[in-house]
Amino acid sequence: MCGIVGYIGPREPEGVLLEGLKRLEYRGYDSAGVAIFNKGKVEIVRAVGKLTQLEKALKGKRFSGPIGIGHTRWATHGKSTLENAHPHTAGKVKIVHNGIIENYIELKDDLISKGHKFLSETDTEVIVHLIDEELKRGDNRGEAIRRAMLRLKGAYALGVIFDDDEKHLYAIRNGAPLIVGVGEHEHFIASDIPAILNYTNKVIPLRDEEIAICTQEECSIMDFKNGNVPRTPQKIEWDAEMVEKGGYPHYMLKEIHEQPRVIMETIDKYIDKDRMVPSFDDLKIPVSTLKDIERIEIVACGTSYYAGLVAEYYFEEFARIPTEVQLASEYRYRHPVANKRTLIIAVSQSGETADTLGAVRMGRELGATVLALSNVRESTIPRESSAAIYTEAGLEIGVASTKAFTTQISTLFILALHIALIKKTMTKEAVSEAIHELTALPWLVEQSLKRETLIKQLAEKFYNYRAFFYIGRQLLYPVALEGALKLKEISYISAEGYAAGEMKHGPIALVDQELPVVCLVTPGPIYDKVMSNVEEIQARDGIILGIGEAGDSRLKKISREFIPMPKAPYHLTPLVYTIPMQLLAYFIAVKKGTDIDQPKNLAKSVTVE
Ligand code: G6P
Repeated sequence: MCGIVGYIGPREPEGVLLEGLKRLEYRGYDSAGVAIFNKGKVEIVRAVGKLTQLEKALKGKRFSGPIGIGHTRWATHGKSTLENAHPHTAGKVKIVHNGIIENYIELKDDLISKGHKFLSETDTEVIVHLIDEELKRGDNRGEAIRRAMLRLKGAYALGVIFDDDEKHLYAIRNGAPLIVGVGEHEHFIASDIPAILNYTNKVIPLRDEEIAICTQEECSIMDFKNGNVPRTPQKIEWDAEMVEKGGYPHYMLKEIHEQPRVIMETIDKYIDKDRMVPSFDDLKIPVSTLKDIERIEIVACGTSYYAGLVAEYYFEEFARIPTEVQLASEYRYRHPVANKRTLIIAVSQSGETADTLGAVRMGRELGATVLALSNVRESTIPRESSAAIYTEAGLEIGVASTKAFTTQISTLFILALHIALIKKTMTKEAVSEAIHELTALPWLVEQSLKRETLIKQLAEKFYNYRAFFYIGRQLLYPVALEGALKLKEISYISAEGYAAGEMKHGPIALVDQELPVVCLVTPGPIYDKVMSNVEEIQARDGIILGIGEAGDSRLKKISREFIPMPKAPYHLTPLVYTIPMQLLAYFIAVKKGTDIDQPKNLAKSVTVE
């Protein structure tokens, strides 16, 4: 997740680039930089930290223009240092990049053997050297870029300019979002529409494997096979309400799409990226108290309860602390056992849910340490708890919770690692490794969101079915529960989530050719067992809707429909697999024509018992 912008035209490029980057800062803010044409060559200015640092570095500088590219970074490969900040350069080539190059190590070795010198730890730098290398085979810039792209594996969006060419701005898309904005005698490129909406509402969304070559007057687009692709700009007609909803028809869909960003912001808050360790410096619970914790009780309702069910695995596996997850409405009335060695974690998006609040009060009376995890700062549950931490999901308006859920899980993942370090149940290296994997999560979620069209088609085929089942095991069991809850909430279809291994103890009696069963399967220690459960359903004519890792041919073969998921570290699969659950419920509800953001009988914040 990074943001890129580019401009060619009569305005001062630095103003356009900074304005665009401000609107893209949600995509990352570890460092920022621009490359702008100035008196016959390109000048690069970069700064570590938020965009304000770049603004400071640019203060008083004047550029002759008319072309420039800019970048705001979310670090994946390499720390947040000046050397790793974009734009990167090699020879005459300057680039900004959003995405991940999977084969960068092998490309880097090859380029080093050809005499290229690398200055950063980023994967991006191989792209700029690759284009520079290809230029040696001929001076046609577009052709050199095209040849270089054919050697890259991974997903990327790029802006490219050259030292001795103030007339051409290049933009390339393959797997990461990028649009071209078309103005009067000017062109823009950006990762997202709002970055350029102040200047033009005419937009060409680039497709994968496309290269745009823009001058001030025109923009031609070719694909990687070197064919010209004729494209007409679309007019973006957003009214005030759509701007509010970011151009989406419902808040729920907007919030689903916000997940890469809000997960990133949440992760950013609770990790120290330089040391790759959890960072809960402001936590008002002494380390000595956490060290003595013997039991964890997670109390919550609804979707927050399911986030707790995922976290239970983390706390037990990482911190080796016996953990139980309790529905707050049950916990309060069951004479719970808790004492000063119990940590109660109250998970609540709103921070106001009456039953969760009741559980918090009871926990405190029993002498437990109560930690609130909420999305709303001024709310009651954090106020009444011993300490509080917050997700950075931002305002969630859709009644069906989406981005709160994934940010809760992300936070609890880091918290479990934090306690594991304190309890010494994991080594620092193992914790760092897990944190490192976590930094790729926003990207993985973005990849999951790309299944949207496929899921929409699936929804159109199945929206008329009377009931659904969702099954999964281990970490994907709570995801099955959450998938079923989402469908119930907004489409009013009867849906049940079940642990796949339990199907044979009753629910399998319901399976017939009229029952779609969403099967969540991921490679891992119990893959074969889950597959046996899926096969048992298939044997009884159930309709298998398989959601599994791309390349899982065994699952694909027995699925009526198959949604391929990106390969993700096992512990992060709940977050990645939740996305299709949300989208499936959403598109089924769209087909049914329900009131998605305010479903009947429900409320966002339940302050009654
Ligand atoms: C309501 C909402 C759900 C939410 C639950 C718990 O039922 O409709 O989306 O998961 O309350 O809310 P909380 O704010 O405590 O997470």
